[in-house]
Amino acid sequence: MSASTGVSGPDFGAGLALDMIAEGATIAGHVGDEAVLLSRYGDDFFAVSGSCTHYGARLADGLVDGDRVHCPWHHACFSLRTGEALTAPAFDALRRWRVHVGADRVFVRELIDGPSKPAPREHGVRRIAIIGGGAAGFAAAEMLRRQGFAGELTLLSDDVNPPCDRPNLSKDYLAGDAPPEWIPLKSTEFYRDNGIDLRLGTAITRIAPQQRQIVPASGDALAYDALLLATGASPIRLKGFDHPNVYVLRTLRDADAVIAAAAQARRVVVIGAGFIGLETAASLRKRGLQVDVVTPDALPLARVLGDDIARFVRSTHEEHGVRFQLGLTAEGFDGKRVRLTGGHSLDADLVVLGVGVRPNTDLAAKAGLAVSDGVEVDRFLQTSMPGVFAAGDVASFPDALSGARLRIEHWAVAQRQGQVAAVNMLGGSESYDATPFFWSAHYDHILRYVGHAPKWDKIEMDGSIASREFTARYSLEGRLLAAASLNRDRENLEIERTFDKGRHEARVRAAP
Ligand SMILES: Cc1cc2nc3c(=O)[nH]c(=O)nc-3n(C[C@H](O)[C@H](O)[C@H](O)COP(=O)(O)OP(=O)(O)OC[C@H]3O[C@@H](n4cnc5c(N)ncnc54)[C@H](O)[C@@H]3O)c2cc1C
Ligand code: FES
Repeated sequence: MSASTGVSGPDFGAGLALDMIAEGATIAGHVGDEAVLLSRYGDDFFAVSGSCTHYGARLADGLVDGDRVHCPWHHACFSLRTGEALTAPAFDALRRWRVHVGADRVFVRELIDGPSKPAPREHGVRRIAIIGGGAAGFAAAEMLRRQGFAGELTLLSDDVNPPCDRPNLSKDYLAGDAPPEWIPLKSTEFYRDNGIDLRLGTAITRIAPQQRQIVPASGDALAYDALLLATGASPIRLKGFDHPNVYVLRTLRDADAVIAAAAQARRVVVIGAGFIGLETAASLRKRGLQVDVVTPDALPLARVLGDDIARFVRSTHEEHGVRFQLGLTAEGFDGKRVRLTGGHSLDADLVVLGVGVRPNTDLAAKAGLAVSDGVEVDRFLQTSMPGVFAAGDVASFPDALSGARLRIEHWAVAQRQGQVAAVNMLGGSESYDATPFFWSAHYDHILRYVGHAPKWDKIEMDGSIASREFTARYSLEGRLLAAASLNRDRENLEIERTFDKGRHEARVRAAP
């Protein structure tokens, strides 16, 4: 994934005729060699950078909705008026330009200084603690400060590394295409400058929500007024695979361990053909290893994407040299050979397990919070215990559309939940109603999936797999539940917008 380059459209520095931009319209152009979006609302004009602050996608290829623009790659949303990154996975605001309105032309020439620090506000909450330094925990901490929270903010993580770009760990970073400096979500200065007390290598084993305290293994208890559980999930390990050359992939440390092992290896067996297993296979092929992927399924990802796209995913990987061992279960590993069902076996210098994750619910369960498939939260992401919130892979939340409890393991979902939880920890009442969204990279093909369809009875394919451009729509009993797209980024955003509206309306109808 690299930044979009090149600019097009009018040169706003040279000026644009006023009648070229209608009320409510946004035009993509440039100032010098920087892409700029110019918007008009009544007599007011706004100019912001046209490159997403997450990975640099061209926002002109995204979706403008009122005074917001949605990024085509990973669906971050920005205000066209202020440039603020309203929803993750982008956090930094877009650069802004001053717009000079003449008699019959508008000119964009001068950058406005960077975003000013939000003014501290009184929220009636003095101490906030977050357990978990991943997607949700980081997004919550960042949003708390953006909301002007001026109290004590502690981010506790058992990881030794600061919050990192986890999706990259199985993609460019594992393939050797992303340098280490891309991986932290923010530098250590960010935490210092924003007064976020980031405590790494700190495993929390007990909370006492009645006393509003976190009880560390040693040292003093940490008191809080509001607490966020953002403990995520841990990779499942398999019995019979207890060898030093067996790896999982969750943390930066895990990724570095796989990279170090891969440097000494020729053959890897990846167990599991889910998204992480397949991305790992692709990245290790890039490093020149022989890669076998073992799965009991007949096709990789068929349960998520259906047979046709699954066949496409399979053949794409096979074209890059991945060998699939389909319909087989890995039964054990003796350090040199992986034993498979049916008496088969595979030589392996290293094994990567990609067989799913389990939510880290222990803390919550021990503290008596309601836990089922995850830590149960209401639509405001508050757990059964007042003052304790949960977000991300660990949270089981009520779906606005169906009312059913969902626990979703996607990057943007975790971050957006962290952002909503932040607002609510400060006394807000924002409902988490966003449509689930994820992306997955398979060599040059980036699949984008919006919605949630654990089952379907119909898949409608628009476009074609052969042309590498399609949207597959998954519906059940006539109701559209999800869509998967390849090279149809704007359409994927449009479907997301329709789903979001549906979810919002359902929530309003259900509100007491
Ligand atoms: C390799 C990889 C690639 C992925 N790629 C994609 C992708 O392309 N697209 C996508 O949508 N999703 C992707 N995902 C999924 C996505 O990363 C997760 O859904 C997301 O990270 C969940 O965020 P979270 O904050 O809930 O959990 P995490 O990001 O896992 O963070 C949890 C944090 O809590 C800490 N913690 C846990 N227990 C404790 C404790 N008791 N005390 C202190 N700290 C604790 C952990 O160390 C960790 O720092 C990927 C995941 C992985 C592993
Ligand atoms: S590049 Fe815009 S959200 Fe990722």
